[in-house]
Amino acid sequence: MRAGAALQLLSAANIVAAISFPHFAAFAEADATTAVPIQGFYTTSPSNSPTSNTTVARTGNATAATRTGTVTAPRTLTYTQTEYTPNPTVFRTACAEISSSYASRLAVYSSQASTNANAILPTRVAVRPREAWDCLYSIPINRDLTLEFISGVAKYLQFQSTIEYLKNPPANSLQDPIDIIGSLEKLADQVRSGEIAHHIRFENAFRKLLQRCHDGHLGFSFNSGSLIAFRGPFSLISISPDAIEKPKVYAENDLLEFGLNASYVTRIDGYGVEAWLAEFADYGSSQSPDARYNAIFANRDPGSDGTFYTLYGWYPGKNTISLTYSNASTIEYEYRAFARWNSALNWTGIRTGADFYANIVLNPAYFQLSSSNEEGVAGEHAPAPEPTNSGNAHHIHDKQKVRKRQMRTGVATTTTSRRPSATPQVPQLVYFNEPYMRHRVGPYVQDLNGIIGGYFLNDTIGTAVLDISSFAADDDDAEFEVAGFQAALTTFFAEARRRGSKKLILDVRGNGGGLVALGFELYKQLFPSAPAQSFYRIRAHEAAQIFATAAETLATDKATEELIETIERIGLDGIDEDTPGRALEVVLAISSGFSRQNTLDVSGNKPEDLETWIGPYNITGLVNDTVSLLVENNFNLPIQSSDISGFGSLANFTSAPQPFQKEDILLLSDGTCASTCTIFSELLKREQANISSVVMGGRPNDGPSAHVGGTHGSRVLTYANLLRNSRRVVELFTPETDEQEQYLIDNIPLALPFGFTYAAINFRDAIRPEDETATPLQFALEPADCRLYFSPIGFTDSVYLWGELSKLKWGTGSEFEGCAVGGLQRGEGSTGFVPDDPNTVEIVNYILQPLKPT
Ligand SMILES: *[C@@H]1O[C@H](CO)[C@@H](O)[C@H](O)[C@H]1NC(C)=O
Ligand SMILES: *[C@@H]1O[C@H](CO)[C@@H](O)[C@H](O)[C@H]1NC(C)=O
Ligand SMILES: *[C@@H]1O[C@H](CO)[C@@H](O)[C@H](O)[C@H]1NC(C)=O
Ligand SMILES: *[C@@H]1O[C@H](CO)[C@@H](O)[C@H](O)[C@H]1NC(C)=O
Ligand SMILES: *[C@@H]1O[C@H](CO)[C@@H](O)[C@H](O)[C@H]1NC(C)=O
Ligand SMILES: *[C@@H]1O[C@H](CO)[C@@H](O)[C@H](O)[C@H]1NC(C)=O
Ligand SMILES: *[C@@H]1O[C@H](CO)[C@@H](O)[C@H](O)[C@H]1NC(C)=O
Ligand SMILES: *[C@@H]1O[C@H](CO)[C@@H](O)[C@H](O)[C@H]1NC(C)=O
Ligand SMILES: *[C@@H]1O[C@H](CO)[C@@H](O)[C@H](O)[C@H]1NC(C)=O
Ligand SMILES: *[C@@H]1O[C@H](CO)[C@@H](O)[C@H](O)[C@H]1NC(C)=O
Repeated sequence: MRAGAALQLLSAANIVAAISFPHFAAFAEADATTAVPIQGFYTTSPSNSPTSNTTVARTGNATAATRTGTVTAPRTLTYTQTEYTPNPTVFRTACAEISSSYASRLAVYSSQASTNANAILPTRVAVRPREAWDCLYSIPINRDLTLEFISGVAKYLQFQSTIEYLKNPPANSLQDPIDIIGSLEKLADQVRSGEIAHHIRFENAFRKLLQRCHDGHLGFSFNSGSLIAFRGPFSLISISPDAIEKPKVYAENDLLEFGLNASYVTRIDGYGVEAWLAEFADYGSSQSPDARYNAIFANRDPGSDGTFYTLYGWYPGKNTISLTYSNASTIEYEYRAFARWNSALNWTGIRTGADFYANIVLNPAYFQLSSSNEEGVAGEHAPAPEPTNSGNAHHIHDKQKVRKRQMRTGVATTTTSRRPSATPQVPQLVYFNEPYMRHRVGPYVQDLNGIIGGYFLNDTIGTAVLDISSFAADDDDAEFEVAGFQAALTTFFAEARRRGSKKLILDVRGNGGGLVALGFELYKQLFPSAPAQSFYRIRAHEAAQIFATAAETLATDKATEELIETIERIGLDGIDEDTPGRALEVVLAISSGFSRQNTLDVSGNKPEDLETWIGPYNITGLVNDTVSLLVENNFNLPIQSSDISGFGSLANFTSAPQPFQKEDILLLSDGTCASTCTIFSELLKREQANISSVVMGGRPNDGPSAHVGGTHGSRVLTYANLLRNSRRVVELFTPETDEQEQYLIDNIPLALPFGFTYAAINFRDAIRPEDETATPLQFALEPADCRLYFSPIGFTDSVYLWGELSKLKWGTGSEFEGCAVGGLQRGEGSTGFVPDDPNTVEIVNYILQPLKPT
């Protein structure tokens, strides 16, 4: 490919709008002193090999890796197959009909708006599910662009930390083997051969491939999902009468109206209800099948409709679903569908599938809109603290409360000024006795963004509770997240001391993660003097080595030292494009995740040089791959917007008193705990063994269930972020020959032909340094000490639930007669891996059992 073609690839529309992406022609003219030759990448030359010896060999054997049950053939999901194939004469008109519903809806709004200033701009209109599918089905496939997408997206997916482990997942991880790259090749074959003859079939096949990896950090949302959404008829709830007996499935409204007198569901579409739901849950993003099962149902805290209602965005293949109840009635319900829109992607001008393709499938608008605010966009603002999740992938709690706060505090959601004022106005950071989420009573204290709520129960035990349903504000533009969180915790623990509260429940139900800094902050406030170490590594494939070299080129030891001096002089907020010495670029390179400058190895030292950091180090054995050195974040570097207690300017916090003894702490989860939540739980577990854990819900199988069941990945990277790294590379390294240019084209992620609203990979694998197999924690499912099913106790009233759990753990007279599985008095069992011998573990995977109509 010649320069012209490469130029097109690199400057295609998907590049973030705010950045004017340089052309290759311009590189050639770039200052020769800043252009670094990239020969080093062309081969893995001996000089690039690691000098130290950290090759990890997995113990265990191939036999041990075969799972409980015997599953070899990939399962076929029976119910979501989109069997219905539209008739071309029907699908020719479907998009036009939806588009005219959209136009009428907007017309109604316009006429309302002319008389009523409070008219609300509509964002969706109900359509028939089959018509919605007809329209999607009518989108033509473009084979060349689809093949280009497949080869392009493969370069992003190479950064998925577990890509090799997914091919051959460790025993007992309950993960099916998935060869992402091999599957992409198969998809490409199917596109070439015409077996996949419709664009939407391709989108669905690709989404399904990623969904079945069950990593909440790994995902791809095509634009089409912004225009059409499918929905179930209502929400389901799984309830046990006493939290110990196996739960039954109810329609939410029946349960709310009739309580346990309601008829429960016995079959769905003729299949046994549990088997059907276990299959359905296979689209879920949690590693633990029990967490995926929980996600099906509506939940109160934090509020969620459940995936039976949201359908993961899938067309269910038909217009109706039949539920059979315990009273022997079988009732047929309508699925629902909505045409939706937003300011970037809408139905204007769409008459045919071809219009849909041109206006929506190929449209990069939404991506540009949403990624222009992301960390690392030059000149916008200093980097935010590292998120582990996307900031929008997991959050399901009540947006209302945050908006209310912002209106009151005047913390606007717009930060358009490029240079933050030197003394930002600090708003009120905490609130007392204010409404919080859906709870009957508000917490004693909460932070301004409503991330955390601290309660004191009115009981004789003296129970304190921290409700932590996230580690980030719902609002992506929220400010003072770290400062507010810090202040709320400090206030809460001071009050706990004042009251003499001795017991603490940490409620992480529904916590899908957020800012890494907040996970560490909570841990350090709980255990000020304890070490807080969380080690990770990244894949060190060719492109990661290129990115690491680019980061190193900017963030050399010397440049980093100068940067730190500058930050100490003028503050991080003062760093912008105008700061001399490329300071902003250095900050961005360091926070990109590819630099060694903000990392420490297991001995507490900064990796000496680029090769020591990125290796590549070989992993051999059951899984073969190349990875970076095992490192942790160096939170003492002043390049985060706020220091964490115990680090940097707050280093003396390590001498603060510990607010609760570890035997007086109970960790409450619903298995969802993902991302930063897993970092936090892992700190509790590794450093503070014996903290008791209780997990709610899960499949009705009376087996042990993981309390931390979401992705254990310790940092997500969005495609926008990876693309920015590519930009850094082409800015720094001038390809001088066609061969060099081809090398970059072959390896680094470039703009993709299809637009998307969100896409990310899991970047960092969390690893226990003492684990000689160095297995990513994604594949460790550790059972909670105590498992309880959801029951009427506490289902709608968290305050009541906390009280009963406190009595169960520390007092007497709890409504819970014990645990459904395990026990709380033991306070054991929450450390260490699930043993490798499948026979010692009784986590029964329903999904592995064949689905039979009953
Ligand atoms: C490689 O690691 C092993 C095990 O830790 C150690 O015994 C050996 O000395 C190391 N070799 C080198 C060259 O560092
Ligand atoms: C491999 O693991 C299986 C199951 O734990 C065990 O039966 C077998 O003896 C092991 N084989 C070797 C060679 O260690
Ligand atoms: C359930 O049925 C019992 C007996 O008929 C009745 O006393 C009770 O009020 C019912 N509960 C609800 C929530 O309707
Ligand atoms: C059986 O239960 C379902 C669900 O509560 C209800 O909708 C239906 O009316 C009931 N059928 C009869 C015959 O009572
Ligand atoms: C529809 O999208 C276009 C851009 O794609 C935008 O200019 C227009 O304002 C949008 N219309 C509505 C009603 O949102
Ligand atoms: C606390 O509980 C006691 C005993 O049940 C009750 O008398 C008192 O009113 C409660 N206080 C509050 C603030 O709810
Ligand atoms: C890693 O594997 C590659 C390919 O097998 C080999 O060339 C290289 O020497 C290995 N590196 C180390 C450090 O063992
Ligand atoms: C890893 O590499 C070794 C040596 O080349 C090979 O024997 C083994 O089969 C490979 N394992 C996998 C999972 O590919
Ligand atoms: C840390 O130092 C600050 C400032 O000197 C002081 O206000 C604070 O109380 C100290 N914290 C601890 C835990 O010693
Ligand atoms: C955990 O508890 C068990 C039983 O009380 C005790 O033997 C063990 O030492 C404890 N482990 C740690 C790390 O405290």
